[in-house]
Order: sequence, then C-alpha cells, then structure tokens
Amino acid sequence: MSLYLDNAATSYPKPESVYQAVLHTMREIGASPGRGGYGRSLEAGRLLFQTREVAAALFSVPDSSRIIFTHSATESLNTALRGTLSDGDHVITTSMEHNSLIRPLQALRERGVGLTFVTAASDGRVDPDDIRRALTPKTRMIACAHVSNVSGTIQPIELIAKIARQAEVLFLLDAAQSAGSIPIDVASIGIDLLAVPGHKGLYGPQGTGLLAVAPGVALRPLLAGGTGSNSTSEEQPDSFPDGFEAGTHNLPGIAGLKAGMEFVLEQGATIIGGHERNLVKIARDALEGLPGLTLYGSEDQSVCAGVLSCAARGKDAASLAFELDQRFDIAVRAGLHCAPRAHQTLGSFPAGTVRMSPGWFSTREDIALFARAVVECLR
Ligand code: ALA
Repeated sequence: MSLYLDNAATSYPKPESVYQAVLHTMREIGASPGRGGYGRSLEAGRLLFQTREVAAALFSVPDSSRIIFTHSATESLNTALRGTLSDGDHVITTSMEHNSLIRPLQALRERGVGLTFVTAASDGRVDPDDIRRALTPKTRMIACAHVSNVSGTIQPIELIAKIARQAEVLFLLDAAQSAGSIPIDVASIGIDLLAVPGHKGLYGPQGTGLLAVAPGVALRPLLAGGTGSNSTSEEQPDSFPDGFEAGTHNLPGIAGLKAGMEFVLEQGATIIGGHERNLVKIARDALEGLPGLTLYGSEDQSVCAGVLSCAARGKDAASLAFELDQRFDIAVRAGLHCAPRAHQTLGSFPAGTVRMSPGWFSTREDIALFARAVVECLR
C-alpha cells in the first residue's frame, strides 16, 4: 500500500462517511434538485440546502444562499474574477500565486484589466505594506492565496483584508490550501469572495468547490444555462444561488463534500491544521542540515502550514520523486506545482522542488518513513 503524502494536490484517504455519502446519493436519491416536484428531487434539493448550511457554519457565512457550488477552486476563482472585474479596473496580487489565479488574471489583463504583482520575501511571506503601496485609484480588488501550495507560507490575510476594507476594494481569498486546516471566518475577517476546493482540506470528492460571496457584492454568472428556476426567461438570472449554478449539479460530489465538511467541523480546523503542521515540523527536523538538501519556506510554525518543499543538489526534483515512488512507494509531487512565480520568489525556479504534504490521516510513522527514504535517495 503506497504512502500518500500529496494532500496539497488532493486529500486521500477521505473519511469513511464521505464514501458512504457519495454512494448513498447515487443509489438512494438519484434525482436532480430543482428539476421535479417528486420526492427524490425534493430530497436532492434538501441535500443541496443542507450542504450550503454546513459550509456557511464552517466559514461563518451569514447567508448560505450566497454560497455557490462549483467544480473546483479554479472555477470559483474564475467566477469571482470574471464576475466582478471590468476593463480599466486594477488588481493587486502577489508573487506566490497558483496559476488558477494568475492565468485568469493574465487573460483579463489582455482585455484591459491592470495587474500588479507584489513580490513576497524569500520565505514566501508578503508584506502588507507593499500591498498598500500598490493601491491606485483604479484598484478594484486585492486577490491572493491564504497559504502557498509550494512552501506552505501563511499570508497575513487579516491585515490584507483591512487594507482592502480601508481602500474600499474587494478582497478575494484563494483558500485552496487553507480551508479545513485553518479556521476562516469570512464575516469577521472581511473576505468579499472566498474560493475553496472541496477535494483538499474539506475532504470532499474531486470535482467539487465553493465560492462564498459577501452580501452586497455584485457578481455576473460565469456560465449560462438551465437553473431549474425562471424557466420562462431566456436570459441568465443573476439571483443567488441558482443563477450561478447552471447545469446539473454534481450531487454525489456535493453529498460527499457535506460529509467532509461535517468531519472538519467535528475535528476542528485548528486541530487538523495543527496535526499537519506538527508532521511537517517532524519532517523538517529530520531533514534539516542534510548535506545537499535545501528546505524551503519558514521554520516558524505560526506562518507555515502543512506543506514542505525541498530540493537536492545534483538530483532533479522529478528524479527524486520518481525514486521515492519506485523504491519506497511514497507519493509526493515534484516540479513547479503550477506556481512558477512562487518558485522564482523562493529561489527554486526553474528546477522546482519535491513537495511533501501530509493530511489528517498521515502519521508520525509515515513521516519517519518519508525522511528515511529521502536520506537513502541522497546517499
Ligand atoms: N494546486 C494543487 C497542487 O498544488 C493541484 O498540487
């Protein structure tokens, strides 16, 4: 049985309740919400509503109808960006972002949206004052990741949100690597748009995601199509939530996501994140000082979440990951992790790194095995 340490890509395994919820929904419900007046469709609608309520409880969203189901954090980010920005607007982002944020921003830049990248320090941390200095009269949004998928660096989002609030611009948070591992209270932090994958720290199935939109934030739908509502109109409604969920829902996925979020609520994001951080610390302590091995990110657990990136002198990242897989059956991710600028910032571009990311089900023994295997590969 392989040792899976790539939870930053997608979490595995899932809690048993997640598998059961997917199967139950496919076997026992089977119908689509809002597409019929019969019992199964109504049950599907209830499930959709209950899942929104669970997400609202997890992220302290005051009105669950402003939580939209998407297929990924990428779709959530695209909806948030394309649904709010117009030609002439200016966006501030950072050098630590994933391509899921950078690529839609670059596409918008070609259509007249201004873009400023604030460069983080070499441990990945962004100075909020640099963000403040990048504000212009045209700035409409500050958009950044909560946690780097490469180094695990946690950004000071409370301070960044405050800057956005004072400047009266939107704050979009990409919580791809933090949701489920760090508590996020959208209302008290002041997050206007929260993009979340379902399949990472929320332990839902792949193909699920959420976008939470603060009251008063106007959004244009990304997709147009059937919503099961307003059927007399050939225009796409922009009412929450239906107008933003065109097409048949991934109901088995959403049911699994509900079970995953309930699991996170039960354990507590602080406990889950603390466990992951402890495992990263154990790995860091075991590998620190190993000749020829560079560890990236911060040693300070208060600014580093459950991700550890490393690179070995004289062995490229893909070869090291390949060896870990072939010799030791250990799954980690190598390369640039869809975040080239982050690697430039950390000093690991273009070679990339080997990234190890534990999850709730990872153990100290797993990390000891990983560390021993790295030592063996470097011999
Ligand atoms: N963004 C995911 C990762 O970093 C897929 O691996």
